[in-house]
Amino acid sequence: MIILGLHSALDWDSSDAKNFSRIHDSGCTLFIDGKHIRSIDESRLTRVKYEGNYPVNSIDYCLDCIPREDVDIVAFPPSAVHLCNEQIASGDAGNFFRKEFPNAEIWYLSHHLCHAASTVFTAPFNSGSFLTLDGMGSSVWDFADGSTKRMENNSIGYFNKDKREFRFFRLESGPGENSFGDYYMNLASQVFNGKTNNTSSEYSGAEGKIMGLSAYGKPSNKSKPYTVSTEYPLNSMNIDRFEYGEPIINFYEYDNVYPYIKDLSYEDQSAYLQGHFENAIIKWISLLREDYLTENVCLAGGVFLNVCANSLFRDMFENIHIPPWPNDSGVHFGAAVWAAYKSNETIDIPSNIALLGKEYSDSEIKQSITKLWN
Ligand SMILES: [Fe+2]
Repeated sequence: MIILGLHSALDWDSSDAKNFSRIHDSGCTLFIDGKHIRSIDESRLTRVKYEGNYPVNSIDYCLDCIPREDVDIVAFPPSAVHLCNEQIASGDAGNFFRKEFPNAEIWYLSHHLCHAASTVFTAPFNSGSFLTLDGMGSSVWDFADGSTKRMENNSIGYFNKDKREFRFFRLESGPGENSFGDYYMNLASQVFNGKTNNTSSEYSGAEGKIMGLSAYGKPSNKSKPYTVSTEYPLNSMNIDRFEYGEPIINFYEYDNVYPYIKDLSYEDQSAYLQGHFENAIIKWISLLREDYLTENVCLAGGVFLNVCANSLFRDMFENIHIPPWPNDSGVHFGAAVWAAYKSNETIDIPSNIALLGKEYSDSEIKQSITKLWN
């Protein structure tokens, strides 16, 4: 069975702000009869950072000589974009895929399910739990009135690959609410824009830079954790438990955080943001660990690109698996491997999953160096 996993915009511009689009890291993965064949991000072929458009080049690269008529399943997680859901509801998305892959079944999957599958099926252990955290995943779309009701913001679950068990619990909130990824992305972007005088409204991708810069700052004594102002008490974060349920984090009015710290040096602003983020995520994961997460845990979602925070919960678990693609670069892989698993195929993953992507011959490398040199 030939299975393609895709993550991308469809026939529209992924960077068009009117689509409320945050689609980035588009790409394609190919599995045949359960065996992983190829994965690549579109940005590697277009050289456009954070490319989110439909991955024409990645599909060509993955399929190589395989005719599109031979594709059996296209697994596609719709992202949190109104237009995407509208196109699925109207049938336009189905028509789009039918033109591309005339004989394929189209599987629309949850974005967070794909993150989860991308880490579970590459983990070196057989059973355990998983946690996904990112900015926002798929919408919970109301097909009756055509609106977004809720948004995936984190998910947990359990798996036993030998027993073919995979239980997925999707946790949701209002769009952009109570999301570790959204919180960090928005504040990092404000610190980055202040430092670089960047006035563009485009996604800055500043999270990694701010995490790095935080090492040069000192912890601020401006406020105690989770409280922005003592003069006008305003909790920016609060961690609580649902009655009989999992811990939930609430982020309140964090637009007020940046004005409060903007007089600090950029290094100290970064240290403030990173420090409070670490405190919050450690506390939240500790609560999950008490009742939900097991000794073996698989993590995925863009939040786990924060290696400084990751290093702090290392001792809470026996084994932690984070694939090389915890961000949306792993979503097309997760979609494809999930479709192969649900088709009862035996999953066969390469031993070194850090080396997926295009191979370059010595002559291609030499040609590129020569071109640059001249
Ligand atoms: Fe994501």
